[in-house]
Amino acid sequence: MAGEERRVKIQIKAVKKEYRGDHGTTVALNGVDLDIMENEFVCVVGPSGCGKSTLLNILAGLHEASSGECCLDGEAIHGTDVKRGVVFQQYALFPWQTVLQNVMFGPQMKRLPKAECMEIARKYIRMVGLEDFEGSFPKELSGGMKQRVAIARAYANDPEVLLMDEPFGALDAQTRAQLQTELLKTWEEEKKTCFFITHDVDEAVLLAQRVVIMSARPGRIKRIVDIDIPYPRDQATKSDARFMELKAQIWNEVYQEYLEVRK
Ligand SMILES: Nc1ncnc2c1ncn2[C@@H]1O[C@H](COP(=O)(O)OP(=O)(O)OP(=O)(O)O)[C@@H](O)[C@H]1O
Ligand SMILES: [Mg+2]
Repeated sequence: MAGEERRVKIQIKAVKKEYRGDHGTTVALNGVDLDIMENEFVCVVGPSGCGKSTLLNILAGLHEASSGECCLDGEAIHGTDVKRGVVFQQYALFPWQTVLQNVMFGPQMKRLPKAECMEIARKYIRMVGLEDFEGSFPKELSGGMKQRVAIARAYANDPEVLLMDEPFGALDAQTRAQLQTELLKTWEEEKKTCFFITHDVDEAVLLAQRVVIMSARPGRIKRIVDIDIPYPRDQATKSDARFMELKAQIWNEVYQEYLEVRK
């Protein structure tokens, strides 16, 4: 991205999150600082329970930090906003609506004229290759297809930031590879700032410009690795020597944290 001006889009400042429950307090995050640049693709990896989803939920505005704050374009995040689109592992589609209706939902909420809503929805349905299924209901689709609808729906809202929590986690390896490739293509066409959580180090290295490794709970940022592999990337990138080197390095660090949890 030579020559492009880089601007901070998301600031995570000294974020701490405690959950208070009947069995005591869990410190999920403690002292997380991170700047994410506009149009950047950041992947977050770390052992289970290290606070990845907690951080995403704070960025989405679904949870409040106990202390510290997160900002979008310098403004503190409180509550949800269409500027921040979220895709979870379990596709949250409306079962009573067709693919087209699900994807049109966001533009309709913005009170755009119906023809325009349809045009926007169809553009993103095409983008995820589901143009032949726009009249289908979620129950008539496979898991991968439903997740594609969820991604199309997130894009149709035209968010400035996409927050994705293991969006491909429930899919088989082939579907997952296909959706990774589609997501890469989409990101290159229509750059959005992406914050993407995954357990899969391969996936993180394939997609991200930077991989953020979190430490075992309470979650902190352990290290940030620049993925200096040029785009466009595709599944063949996974056999590049540099890919394998970065993957081994990150995998080892995540494994060390996993061992910490097991101690
Ligand atoms: N709503 C909640 N109430 C109480 N504790 C919670 C809540 N949500 C998360 N936690 C705790 O906070 C810690 C971090 O959880 P979080 O879901 O953020 O981890 P994660 O890194 O996303 O894990 P995974 O990789 O398994 O999805 C865990 O110890 C979890 O038990
Ligand atoms: Mg999680």
